Amino acid sequence: MPCYIVIGAQWGDEGKGKIVDYLSEKADLVVRYQGGANAGHTIVRDGVKFVLHLIPSGILSGHCHNIIGNGCVVDIETLMDEIHTLKNLGISVIPENLTISDRAHIVTPVHKYIDRLMNERIGTTCRGIGPCYSDKINRSGLRMTDLLNDDFENMVLSQSSYYKNIAEKLFHKNFIKINDFIDKIAEYRSYLRPFIKDTVIIISDFYQQKKNILFEGAQGTSLDIDQGTYPYVTSSNTTIGGAYTGSGVYLQFDRRIGIMKAYTTRVGEGPFPTEQLNTIGVTLRTKGHEYGATTGRPRRCGWLDLHQVKRACIINGFNYLVLTKLDCLNGFKKLKVAVESSDVTKICYEELDGWKEDISSNRHFDQLPKNCQQYVDFIEKFLGVPVGMISTGSERNDMIVKELP
Ligand code: IMP
Repeated sequence: MPCYIVIGAQWGDEGKGKIVDYLSEKADLVVRYQGGANAGHTIVRDGVKFVLHLIPSGILSGHCHNIIGNGCVVDIETLMDEIHTLKNLGISVIPENLTISDRAHIVTPVHKYIDRLMNERIGTTCRGIGPCYSDKINRSGLRMTDLLNDDFENMVLSQSSYYKNIAEKLFHKNFIKINDFIDKIAEYRSYLRPFIKDTVIIISDFYQQKKNILFEGAQGTSLDIDQGTYPYVTSSNTTIGGAYTGSGVYLQFDRRIGIMKAYTTRVGEGPFPTEQLNTIGVTLRTKGHEYGATTGRPRRCGWLDLHQVKRACIINGFNYLVLTKLDCLNGFKKLKVAVESSDVTKICYEELDGWKEDISSNRHFDQLPKNCQQYVDFIEKFLGVPVGMISTGSERNDMIVKELP
């Protein structure tokens, strides 16, 4: 496993956390390169559920190094909470297993407030992602390296007064108080100082030494700021290009792994051609426990859209696919799969036969019901990329490995 990348092929929530957790067993380094606490990577181990928002999933493996790259936006309050939660679960987060890029931008409480105020129509996670990336592009952002500066409190206050004007003059809203955040800056600074470094050098050293590296994408291809369903997208490049700019290092990914759910979900607003606003959608939501890991919002549910996934294969150059939550399709008489969806009015479906059996305890592809095997074969053939792994449940071992990654 020299150098792998894992990217969501749909609108996020494809089950990347579980796959990254599985792959990080062999990894020496796990890198997050975009997004922030809008992500919620859920991992279930021995019945214990972990939801990681910022820290790479490799932290759970206990032996690999983890990096929050320069392309990420770091909510320091959430990061501190996550470190303490992990500590209480017996997992220590120390500079020896986590490094944060000095160039990663900081999400402040002001960004979260502005996100709530201005981005309602997008249905964001309200984690301050858009406003923080806006400041980055506007060259007015605050970076992790600034946290180490004794003047950081004043930088936050100056950012705050800019947004106070917008909130009060444009939106006629009372601005938030940020005293609590300001009061804690010194504590954050002294705690996080040893974690903050130039991560380019670290990633490059691991790569030169031919160590096993895993890049962990957040969200999914259709939420990419450039390639997604704009403006109903997140504010980072969730596709493979984001891995290069968000880590700063050129490397060749031997495996470009696309994670796709056996059906489709989306949270927030925006187009969703295969959405099922009927009992099918409700059944999928119930069977798949489709509620946001970050916000708890019910996810919109619908049939698998292979047109969407095909586009993700092209954009990211996937050469290996993982199909997740196939067990959630147990019991459907007929299954629909969209093969054309570029125009919502001309959406075109193929209908496949479903299966009655519960497949969650299956560990071998050839023991799956015939119709279930045909569903997977259809996907592989349409996309022209092998489905190497199939996840059939939330636990780590609920997995069929057809071909080792
Ligand atoms: P933001 O990233 O919070 O700005 O939200 C923009 C859009 O991306 C909204 O539709 C969110 O619901 C969606 N989104 C952001 N992060 C995730 C995620 O991790 N999974 C699924 N959807 C997400």
